Amino acid sequence: GTTLGASAAERGRYFGAAVAANKLSDSAYTTILNREFNSVTPENEMKIDATEPQQGQFTFTNADRIVSHARSRGMSVRGHTLAWHSQQPGWMQNMSGSALRQAMLNHVTQVATHFRGQVVAWDVVNEAFADGGSGARRDSNLQRTGNDWIEAAFRAARAADPGAKLCYNDYNTDDWTHAKTQAVYNLVRDFKQRGVPIDCVGLQSHFNSGSPYPGNYRTTLSSFAALGVDVQITELDIQNAPADTYRNVVNDCLAVARCTGITVWGIRDSDSWRAEQNPLLFTSSGAKKPAYDAVLAAL
Ligand code: XIL
Repeated sequence: GTTLGASAAERGRYFGAAVAANKLSDSAYTTILNREFNSVTPENEMKIDATEPQQGQFTFTNADRIVSHARSRGMSVRGHTLAWHSQQPGWMQNMSGSALRQAMLNHVTQVATHFRGQVVAWDVVNEAFADGGSGARRDSNLQRTGNDWIEAAFRAARAADPGAKLCYNDYNTDDWTHAKTQAVYNLVRDFKQRGVPIDCVGLQSHFNSGSPYPGNYRTTLSSFAALGVDVQITELDIQNAPADTYRNVVNDCLAVARCTGITVWGIRDSDSWRAEQNPLLFTSSGAKKPAYDAVLAAL
């Protein structure tokens, strides 16, 4: 293939990008998006603060815009994210206990129902584990509603959209020896053993000098896959975008049958949440970088 999406499709995978609704009117941006990618993740538009800014009042305009842009062009959509400690609207930040648990489950149900049949995979729960060596859950208002909040969210998502793949998504879960990676692995193993609905694990894979690409990344991918879930690289960006590292990531995914796709977290460096690190595949003026050539050649 001559594009990322077409080449990935030849390998039975997708190649996606995080997309911002307010950039869909930028023709330089949409030219690259429409040419290169066959999957889209809304960068912020499906988050809790965006979709339920006031409790019980749902707004889907910007998310719908991205979904319709993608689906009308044959791209698939990853939903991101239904339950998360961050980017909560003010009303939710101030909630706790059973009222928060109920509000979270209602949010999951309403949003997954709105997009039923349009989203191939949902990041149901995002970033629920703590950093560092503890392997513990992250403290958050959601965690304080009870340790079963994650499985409750997955069951609600399954009920609302039975056709969507349901993923657990996190960062710093790339190094197989890391306590956080092992903690997520244990969660997924437990869910599979007890029949809690889970279909996939998302590795955000934001690589930088503090959390570099690990040599055992392929082991991490294959170990999750061996639990009977798909694995997806959901938010890839790499500080300074070294071509070698991008190539290694692609090769590692292709080596694991259940690594079903890769999403980069933005299109041009100027679109990145870490723009100063130039971590993406296209320059700010839209030119292909050496990392792009390496990824395309590896696919
Ligand atoms: C980031 C977006 O890229 C930014 O625009 C926003 O200001 C903050 O969130 N992990 C995630 C993503 O799961 O949702 C985050 O996206 C990046 C880290």
